[in-house]
Order: sequence, then C-alpha cells, then structure tokens
Amino acid sequence: MKVTIFGSGYVGLVTGACLAEVGNDVVCIDIDAGKIERLERGEVPIYEPGLDTIIKRNMVAGRLQFTTDIDLGVSHGLFQFIAVGTPPDEDGSADLQYVLAVARSIGERMQEYRVVVNKSTVPVGTADKVRGAVSEVLARRGVAIEFDVVSNPEFLKEGAAIEDFMKPDRIVVGTDNPRTTELLRALYAPFNRSHDRMVCMDIRSAELTKYAANAMLATKISFMNELANLAERLGADIEKVRVGIGSDPRIGYHFIYPGCGYGGSCFPKDVKALERTARDAGYPAQLLQAVEAVNDRQKEKLFEKISAYFGGDLAGKTIAVWGLAFKPNTDDMREAPSRTLMEALWRAGAKVRAFDPVAQEEAHRIYGDRADLILCDSPESALRGADALAVVTEWNVFRSPDFDEIKQSLTRPAVFDGRNIYDPAQMKAKGFDYFAIGRGSV
Ligand code: UDX
Repeated sequence: MKVTIFGSGYVGLVTGACLAEVGNDVVCIDIDAGKIERLERGEVPIYEPGLDTIIKRNMVAGRLQFTTDIDLGVSHGLFQFIAVGTPPDEDGSADLQYVLAVARSIGERMQEYRVVVNKSTVPVGTADKVRGAVSEVLARRGVAIEFDVVSNPEFLKEGAAIEDFMKPDRIVVGTDNPRTTELLRALYAPFNRSHDRMVCMDIRSAELTKYAANAMLATKISFMNELANLAERLGADIEKVRVGIGSDPRIGYHFIYPGCGYGGSCFPKDVKALERTARDAGYPAQLLQAVEAVNDRQKEKLFEKISAYFGGDLAGKTIAVWGLAFKPNTDDMREAPSRTLMEALWRAGAKVRAFDPVAQEEAHRIYGDRADLILCDSPESALRGADALAVVTEWNVFRSPDFDEIKQSLTRPAVFDGRNIYDPAQMKAKGFDYFAIGRGSV
C-alpha cells in the first residue's frame, strides 16, 4: 500500500520505517530540508535502538524515501499520516498550527480519495478541525473530492519504539465509517497476526484514549512519589511497599517505581494538555492538577537532599551527575529531571560533572559551553574531584559500579540515588552517606 507520512520526527520516522519494513511503499515528508538531506544520506537524527538499520534497509529496497516535496507526498499515499509536533502553548494546550498546516497542504493538492490519519497526539475534537481545514481548501478550489479522517494515536515508548510498533498491545483506530476502519485494518494486518489487537471506536474516544493512557501512567508514578515522600517521614521503605502492593494483580508491578520524577516528551505535555481540555470543558480536573504538581515537586527532591546534606551551602561544590536523559535508552532530555537538578545546582553556585551514555551531545546542544557543566567521557571521570554523586537516570552501566572507586574519587562519600538502584544496607556497610527516594530515613 502507498503511505505518506508528514513529519519526520520521532513518531513519523518510526511509523514510516515500520510500515515500509512490512512491504508498504512509504514517502516521509518534512519541511526541514537539512533533516531530509541527512536522512537521504542514511543519517538518522534521533537515537532509537534498531531504527537506523530498518531505515537503511528499506531505503536500499526502494520502499522508503525522504523528501520535502509535498506535491509528491500528497499524490503518493492513499494514507496521509499526520505525525507533526503539537508543542504546548503557554497555557498548556496543544498547539495545532502544524497539524492544520498539513491538513491544508493535503486539501490544496489532493486529486483523488485520501485517508488522513492523525498520529500526532491531539486534543479531542482535532479530527473535526482537520476535516474542516481540508474541506475549506477543497471548497476554495471548487472541487468535490472524497476524503476521510481517522484518529490513530501512537503508544510508542522511546527506546522500545520499534518493538512497540511491530508488536503492539493495541492498535487504536477511531473512525466515523466502516470503509476507513477496513482500510486501516488492512494496513495494520501485518502487525495484527496472532490475535486481534485492533480496538475500533469513534474518533473522539480514540483521541481521548491517548491522553487517558498517558495520564493514567503519570498518575501511577505521582501516586508512588507522593507515598515515597510520606514513607521517608514515617520511616517506611517505599520499595517494600511497592512490592507489597504490586503483587495485587489489580494494581500490578508496572509503572509504580518511585523516583526523581517523570520527564520526556509525552507525560508532562499530555497531562497539562488534558488538564487544559478539562478546564475548557468546564470540568477542572483536580486529580490531573495534583499529578502535575506532585511531579514538579518531585523533580526538586534530589537538589533538596543534596542542599540539605551540604548545610544549604553549595557554592564552589562540584556534583557528579550520572544520567542526563529522561530515562535509559534515549538521548531525549525534554523535561528531564537532570535538567531541574543541574539548573538548581548552578543557581546555588555549584558545578556539575556529568556523564550519560548517549545524551551528552544533547546536553551540549541545550546548554552550550559553560564553565559549570563539564561533560565527561565516562562515569568514573565524572566522579573525579566531585563532592558527591547524584544518579538521575537508571542506565544499566550505573547499576553495579566500582563502589570503592566512587568512594575514593569523591571528597565526601555521598550518593544521592534518584532511581533507587542501590541497596541502602550495602551502601551503609560500604561507608556511604546514601540518600534514596522514600526509603525510610535514607
Ligand atoms: C510514554 C508512554 O509510556 C508511551 O506509551 C507514550 O506513547 C509516550 O509516553 P515515554 O515518554 O517514552 O513513553 O517513556 P516511559 O518509559 O513511559 O517513561 C516516562 C517517564 O516516567 C520517565 O521519566 C521514567 O523515568 C518515569 N517512570 C516510569 C517512573 O518514574 N516510574 C515508573 O514506574 C515508570
């Protein structure tokens, strides 16, 4: 089948590559000519395990091409995927200008029936706006060409996006007629083999499903972080509590890990956007507001602990930071807790020696050259001359370090563990001042 994808960012690239991988003929469009040139040379602009191999393989096979040519894109695909960004406005609502610009581009050029598939995370009601934008342009052109609009939200996890696309838990498809449902069923058939994972519904419900999923997951995390903070005050260990509650299948073990807060491109943005949608609908969503507030506070936790340890005086201190990405297996630092920590340390007059297995370049892109950020080429080098260590991202490489070396390198044996990856009893036995999240008095 012929597929066009507008937006060669994270979602667009993964979608395009995976649809090509199963034999479709895919054209990926972006307005950023530099990005398209790099992609044409086989350079993948994002770090996602397995993605560059799939992209290269399908480019060579002639099933995947990259272009800025919108005419080609609209004439190519029966399916016109919209996978462009929906950044938050100042008020938290999703900015739809890029989505609607693509819709108008399609309307301006289409000559025959097209299925416009919305993959971008968009507020409920956006499909109607997309339909309106296409119809308006068609009316201006004075032509009557049929088209359908579908909501097909993605549930990709960064670092596992290929796997999530190839073996999805569910394929949510929101349509307003059976014809489009069948077209989408055919397109997704290769990913829907062992049992039927298609969940078909009306368009508004599909749009809300995406937000509901992310808001639920964010709620689980903020709930655990709230209890972790309480556990600290009560002398209880949240890690014991986590296992104690997770064993109830109604609660489950997934996504109840306390830590120094959630980050990334989805949870913070989507919780805010849903909150905004709720407010606009005349329903102030108190739970969502609390989820966000708890997370904002949680991202301050490591700094508070470090600052308290040094008696509130961090001027001239150096803190080693292990992990910059918002989670392992990505170089994404959007809304990362590491940023909250480093920025607070800088404000307090401290220096940071940081190491991340893949996000160093991203950190340099964000912060540039500055004297108080030293990007180091190994975890060990980040420790050298530092006064304390903060672990912010649970990369595997940090899980079993040489503790003797850590102790020798630091001026104070202080470890602040934002992901609870070390054992408090062992750390104590090794002579560390060890601070974790929600683990009794530590
Ligand atoms: C998320 C959703 O999982 C995905 O389905 C959706 O499509 C996009 O948003 P992603 O942002 O890639 O994916 O990351 P995810 O693995 O879900 O982690 C999000 C954040 O939550 C990370 O900062 C992580 O450290 C944090 N987290 C996760 C916790 O603090 N505790 C947990 O138990 C789980």
